[in-house]
Amino acid sequence: METKFWQVSATHPDLNIIKQAATIIREGGLVAFPTETVYGLGADGLNPEAVKKIFVAKGRPNDNPLILHIAEGKEILRLARQADGDPRVQQLISRFWPGPLTLVLAKQKIVPDEVTAGLDTVAIRMPQHLVALALIKESGVPLAAPSANRSGYPSPTTGQHVFTDLGGRIEAILESGPTGVGVESTVLDLSGNVPVILRPGGVTREALTEVLGTVELDPGLSDSRLIPKSPGMKYKHYSPRAEVFLVQGERAKVATKIKELTFHYADQGKKVGLLLTQESWASLGAEAEMLPAFYRRDLGSATQLEEIARIIYSELRKCDLQGVEVILTETYQTGGIGAALMNRLLKSAGQRVIKA
Ligand code: TXA
Ligand code: MG
Repeated sequence: METKFWQVSATHPDLNIIKQAATIIREGGLVAFPTETVYGLGADGLNPEAVKKIFVAKGRPNDNPLILHIAEGKEILRLARQADGDPRVQQLISRFWPGPLTLVLAKQKIVPDEVTAGLDTVAIRMPQHLVALALIKESGVPLAAPSANRSGYPSPTTGQHVFTDLGGRIEAILESGPTGVGVESTVLDLSGNVPVILRPGGVTREALTEVLGTVELDPGLSDSRLIPKSPGMKYKHYSPRAEVFLVQGERAKVATKIKELTFHYADQGKKVGLLLTQESWASLGAEAEMLPAFYRRDLGSATQLEEIARIIYSELRKCDLQGVEVILTETYQTGGIGAALMNRLLKSAGQRVIKA
């Protein structure tokens, strides 16, 4: 099929285009759209046949449930029976919605099994992007939407990324430029007594703790012998074609190790890409020029993790476009948004961390 590529202003979306996109959704088709985190691949979340198409287009495993996206907080009552009567839900919604927080709650019958992969819980979020909100409102249904990448690949943060992955496989793409957060929403499981983060993301554990008191991390996130509770977290994920290695240690040692590894892989005839912080480039100094690296990027300062999170998927994708075969990059502290950044980097690296 021919994929329509519609440019839409992120601040003043053209209602005419939104209406055409909403018609596709209501007729059971697929439309990719921007959110504040990453681009999503939307279908009518109450139409099982439409939802099935998402799995086919992405090559997504069937046991991985989808998030329902809504445009008004009160819509949650129709989708999650737990929403009525659980005071934590109201507190979280008023503080973090619209925004990058997904709540996992006991579901209502109206939510099809195709969305929840047969679970009795449903994941719901209200995105903070005018194009997403306008599309949901015009469609008149909750949008089931995973990240709009081919399964396993880094999530898309521009419409062009979506086109690269899904062009010819979906009806339309709404393109509004790069997304603001750059990594996906935090998935918070409220179906038990203690809130559990199933996937770290745009809303930090620290911020959630302020509202809820105690917030735990799914042990499956850090122990690869356990099965994560969020089905999506068990798959190979966020991986470019190039092999990714994370180098960890003190600044000066990291620079030395990166030098060593660059020579090592270049000697093997590999095209090496270096995705390093400003601090590491500074630490390499004049020697950086001498390295036999094929591709180099400055990710900015290690003290600005929001900025690194915003660009990381795009930088991984650029390495692939350049034909890089081995990516050497760094680890980060895991406070705040760093938890999400490190979770994604570790996955894209298949957990390969090299100690400097
Ligand atoms: O920022 C985001 O969340 C983006 C944008 C498009 O909204 N969406 C996104 O969707 O990242 P996706 O499908 O790529 O990731 C959804 C995650 C998966 O890890 C999935 O397993 C988990 O949420 N999930 C969905 N429903 C669940 C449920 N009922 N119980 C546990 N985990 C669930
Ligand atoms: Mg995804």
